[in-house]
Amino acid sequence: MNLIEYIESRRDEHLNELKEFLRIPSVSTKSEHKPDIERAAHWVAEKLRAAGLENVEITPTKMHPLVYGESLHAPGKPTVLFYGHYDVQPAEPLDLWTSPAFEPTVRDGKLFGRGTADDKGQVHIHIKALEALKNQTGKLPLNVKVMIEGEEEVGSVSLWDFVQRNRERLKADALVVSDTSMLAKGVPSITYGLRGLNYYQVEVAGPAQDLHSGVFGGAAPNPITILAEMIAKLHDRNFRVAIPGFYDDVTPLSRQERKALNSLPWKEKEFRKTVGAPALDGEKGFTIVERLWTRPTLELNGIWGGYLGEGAKTVIPAKAYAKFSTRLVPNQDPAKIAKLVERHIRQLLPKSVTCNFQVLSTGKPWVAPYTHPIFQTAIHALESGFGKKAVFIREGGSIPFVTQMHDTFKVPCVLLGFGLPDENAHAPDEHIALENYFGGIKAVALFYQQLAAQ
Ligand code: BES
Ligand code: MN
Ligand code: MN
Repeated sequence: MNLIEYIESRRDEHLNELKEFLRIPSVSTKSEHKPDIERAAHWVAEKLRAAGLENVEITPTKMHPLVYGESLHAPGKPTVLFYGHYDVQPAEPLDLWTSPAFEPTVRDGKLFGRGTADDKGQVHIHIKALEALKNQTGKLPLNVKVMIEGEEEVGSVSLWDFVQRNRERLKADALVVSDTSMLAKGVPSITYGLRGLNYYQVEVAGPAQDLHSGVFGGAAPNPITILAEMIAKLHDRNFRVAIPGFYDDVTPLSRQERKALNSLPWKEKEFRKTVGAPALDGEKGFTIVERLWTRPTLELNGIWGGYLGEGAKTVIPAKAYAKFSTRLVPNQDPAKIAKLVERHIRQLLPKSVTCNFQVLSTGKPWVAPYTHPIFQTAIHALESGFGKKAVFIREGGSIPFVTQMHDTFKVPCVLLGFGLPDENAHAPDEHIALENYFGGIKAVALFYQQLAAQ
């Protein structure tokens, strides 16, 4: 039996094991799930051992444990560092799931459940690919280091500390990550660019306490109105971000790259369908692909204040709040952008209110050339694993760790994405196409095998 036949023969076993992983509700943002986080870390550690990794350790951190394992028995062969995350987003709103979030279920060739695409399913692809290689040949044919964290969805707070303390140990010829998407079904993809992310929260405070809106309305400042007016001024009519200096450091797309990105087999019609709104929106003068992958944005993520309960309550609230974020592209500097954003917001607000502005997290954008020969190996492996032509894409999501690794270790970062843009990551009915899960195991096993063979 060859490698591919072996993987084919294990389909049911692989799927059942992934379901086991998905049943652990390892939601990183909620303290009530701490025991589940611990369970998920142990589960990963056990599977790494089964895949032939050694020195498998569960390192406690200030927040959630990090799982590390390695196999270094291929002198002269390349060393890859694989990174992924075992934590997931909360499943709420629960009533919008067709089948329960932590009871993985197959429907129409898709596996549904929180973490299927982001990122447990994709992590499992690599674990099973490594295990297949080990079982086929008795040992792993290349040097592998695996690091799976439990804090990605809350900003990877402890990860960088671990990397700094283990710089020597983590040295590798390439970083491999599967936490992204394919361009479309049947189009295996390598992502060479991600946007950065700054996240903010603003509190606008007016009256010393809530006020009767009949007694005070008309003379007292209303923080909700003031916040809403301020927010409305953050974009102009062409949907450009109206913060002075926001675009100053944006590297323009080269003609060549613009052409390459716009000629990818990407279907606007499918994108419109996934969005599901009556019409699209966005910055004038750029194609949708350019807007999503190469342009910075400012997005409101939440806005609240005043009375939100049943029925009516005539009140002028003392405070109003908003959460928002900026997606960043090369060569924007997160710290500089945070300063510009804060300054502009303070300028927009009238003297009748005060403002508490917080930067909750920052993260750099990433884009890198794919000229290193490892990318050709990856493309070939994807094409053999899926039997389809593979492409290079950029994406709009953020994995700040990739930038940090690229900056620090200066190694090629190979992002093999097996999710799809319409698989509802972070939303109800998250799923992964079984075709991509099984195809992913084959492609990744071939990738590691071909790397070892060179
Ligand atoms: N896997 C995603 C990132 C992603 C999604 C990259 C889609 C490319 C395409 C990751 O788990 C994530 O959700 N990242 C967050 C930022 C993080 C700092 C919380 C994001 O992009 O909002
Ligand atoms: Mn992810
Ligand atoms: Mn995520």
